[in-house]
Amino acid sequence: MQSPSRVAHIAVILVCFSLLCLTRGVNTLVNGNGLSNYTFPDNFMFGVATAAYQVEGAWNEDGKGESIWDTYLHKHPNYTLDHSNGDVAADSYHKYKQDITIIKSLGVKYYRISLSWTRLLPNGTDNYINKAGVRYYRRFFEEMLKAKITPVVTLFHWDLPTALMDLGGWTNPKVIDYFEDYARIAFTLFGDIVKTWTTMNELHQHCFNSYGGDYFVPVLQSHGIGVYLCSHYMLLGHARVYHLYDKEFRPKQKGKIGVTLDAFYAEPKDSNKKEDREAAERYLQMRLGLFAHPIYSEEGDYPKMVREIIDKKSERQGYPRSRLPYFTPKEVAMLRGSSDFFGLNHYTTYIMSPSEMEPTWKIPSADHDTGVKIEQHPDWPIPGAGWLSFYPPGFRKLLNWITKNYGTKVPIVVTENGVSDFGGLTDYVRVSYYNKYMYQMLLAMHEDGCNIAGYFAWTLMDDFEWGDGYKVKFGLFHVDFESPDKTRTPKLSALNYREIVRTRRINFNFIKIPSYYKYDDL
Ligand code: NOJ
Repeated sequence: MQSPSRVAHIAVILVCFSLLCLTRGVNTLVNGNGLSNYTFPDNFMFGVATAAYQVEGAWNEDGKGESIWDTYLHKHPNYTLDHSNGDVAADSYHKYKQDITIIKSLGVKYYRISLSWTRLLPNGTDNYINKAGVRYYRRFFEEMLKAKITPVVTLFHWDLPTALMDLGGWTNPKVIDYFEDYARIAFTLFGDIVKTWTTMNELHQHCFNSYGGDYFVPVLQSHGIGVYLCSHYMLLGHARVYHLYDKEFRPKQKGKIGVTLDAFYAEPKDSNKKEDREAAERYLQMRLGLFAHPIYSEEGDYPKMVREIIDKKSERQGYPRSRLPYFTPKEVAMLRGSSDFFGLNHYTTYIMSPSEMEPTWKIPSADHDTGVKIEQHPDWPIPGAGWLSFYPPGFRKLLNWITKNYGTKVPIVVTENGVSDFGGLTDYVRVSYYNKYMYQMLLAMHEDGCNIAGYFAWTLMDDFEWGDGYKVKFGLFHVDFESPDKTRTPKLSALNYREIVRTRRINFNFIKIPSYYKYDDL
């Protein structure tokens, strides 16, 4: 028999142990071997993603026409951090077979790519189709099928034909017709093989940075007007193409079609302050809700809050009509439900507090309309690109926010998630990021009831990272951009991802991560 003092001693140890478990949160759900207690279901889609301009190169080969990125970066070579461009990039136009080999080595079954609009239609219009472009994608898809890799294809990943930008790009509603023509060509040519389409990638980033700001080309800086015209007509372009597929192609081709939206998560700067909590919610509605509500909510159209804020500010600023255009009832109906899945790109979280005006804001602008000061948390590491800090719990919270606002009927497919660093094969930060972010996704699936059908790591290999050029790296594979072969070499993160895909769970001990990169408190 044990003495009362010994029993008390054990009780104290047990209480301390439970308290320790409670405070350590995530770690309680990982068993002694470092394995996650939750697993990914057998039918969960694991994939990797890239985009045409970021990897293909061959910018003017075999009859390809120019996109806004070609034209702008040739005219303004100093625009990117390292004065580079995507002329050659990872040369996937010539090395797509190598790409398929390395994808296969990861064990993933899905590859998300985008089509280069001007490789197929050099002028942006379908009066002339570039046969070499058709051959390239055809061969590429056939090789993927041989390797048992399913293509997931984005029609528009930011590389608008220059000829259409000259007409005003997405601020011109006529561009919707040209987008529909292009989509029809793509469905006709490749729809026998491609069964999953996304119409567009990150409408929010594209409109807010290319049309509303200067972070992406062509640097229109139409802060308070162009930004919303672009958003409005992109949304309508998406819906038009969804219905084109649904009516004319789906009956025969039997595929799925959706859209990819992006969102940073928004935390209140001080969660005890009501105004910070409201600022965070306002930010999410003004950025993600703007695009997601018309498509995924029951009632459709822009969120009421967004409508009211922009209408009121426009009026006060003396505009004769709202800077955010109105949908007709027919358009509301056309957008509602126009996606078979919720494609989500997520990377990071910011902290939010209310503000009337900040020194960098313009009037009118989307920033000023939103009225939220956006900051990075001082304690969250920033391993590469300056905008991307490491905060895994934000991912779970975002997945919950989407589920709360739009329900579980339409599955979420994470079409991008990943982190940048400054290069090297021993990319512990990336291993740690993927482990922790994917773990948050498991929690969202198993504990919160979020309906998540797939996950695509961004990105397969180092590539051209838009304004950052080649300075920061997001790849699971290193690319030697100096070598003529553009040699691809797996990083530690590639081995780690392969293990996750193979075992359908996360093994936090698979790669021994030096404590510096573990970020145990995140
Ligand atoms: C999202 C974009 O879709 C992709 O093109 C980009 O490289 C990543 N974010 C990382 O910035």
